Amino acid sequence: MSILTFRNVSLRYPPRAGRGGAAEKLVLDGINLQVASDELVAIIGRSGSGKTSLLNLAAGFLEPTSGSITVDGVPIKGPNADRAVVFQDDALYPWLDARDNIALPFKLKGVPLAERREKAQQLLERVGLADAGDRRIWELSGGMRQRVGIARALAAEPRFLLLDEPLGALDALTRTRMQAFLLRIKAESGAGALLITHSIEEALLLGTRVVVLSPNPGRLTAEIEAGFNAEVLNGTPVATVKASPLFKRMHAGLNGLIQSTTDEELAA
Ligand SMILES: Nc1ncnc2c1ncn2[C@@H]1O[C@H](COP(=O)(O)OP(=O)(O)O)[C@@H](O)[C@H]1O
Ligand SMILES: [Mg+2]
Repeated sequence: MSILTFRNVSLRYPPRAGRGGAAEKLVLDGINLQVASDELVAIIGRSGSGKTSLLNLAAGFLEPTSGSITVDGVPIKGPNADRAVVFQDDALYPWLDARDNIALPFKLKGVPLAERREKAQQLLERVGLADAGDRRIWELSGGMRQRVGIARALAAEPRFLLLDEPLGALDALTRTRMQAFLLRIKAESGAGALLITHSIEEALLLGTRVVVLSPNPGRLTAEIEAGFNAEVLNGTPVATVKASPLFKRMHAGLNGLIQSTTDEELAA
């Protein structure tokens, strides 16, 4: 079991250069958060609330201005294979086919060609793309591309999956299918997951815990436990889960929380 911990983390961006010279900006303020291997923590917040900044901190792409971020008590120092990132835009290499995109992390580690192709094929099978290895990236649908991106993230056997709106660019039907897929992959991998989303529905459906990030500066203002992911994993259709009275009540509650923090801010 691993634990990713944010302790009193704040992030301030330097003033933007150029016209007007916008002032220094406090984006995240006093973030305390833990993600364990058996959790999928969904962070929900409006656009601009600091979600991507928070994920970039966890990835090690950014350093906090104050506070600490640790994995099992060890401060993180930059990006590392123990934390794999999946973005909304797949970030795949268009000049490589699906298999070689997945094999790339193995290549960087010096794994011989035949072995890394074999490993990539196993990962393709895991994400339901056994026959798509030879296809170029532009020959894949949006959902398939995200599966390749997820397979590549799994290649490093990370302790944490950091997912920034991974399904945000998909059409509604594909998205629903990918939500169940993501839960299954996460469970099989044994990795903890931090999922950024601006969809209340997605956060409730996938999260073991849902955390609300309120903007200006980004603060974690509410946290609820959710159990719907277990239902989806047990095979209950997503549509059935979403139609349940409890789901609807919690959805309305979260909506109210996000709305109220925004109204306060407007009134201030
Ligand atoms: N590199 C940067 N320099 C200055 N401000 C930034 C930078 N990146 C993001 N911001 C600002 O920080 C705030 C939060 O951005 P972001 O983390 O991308 O939020 P979200 O992902 O929730 O939309 C926004 O106001 C954005 O304009
Ligand atoms: Mg973002």
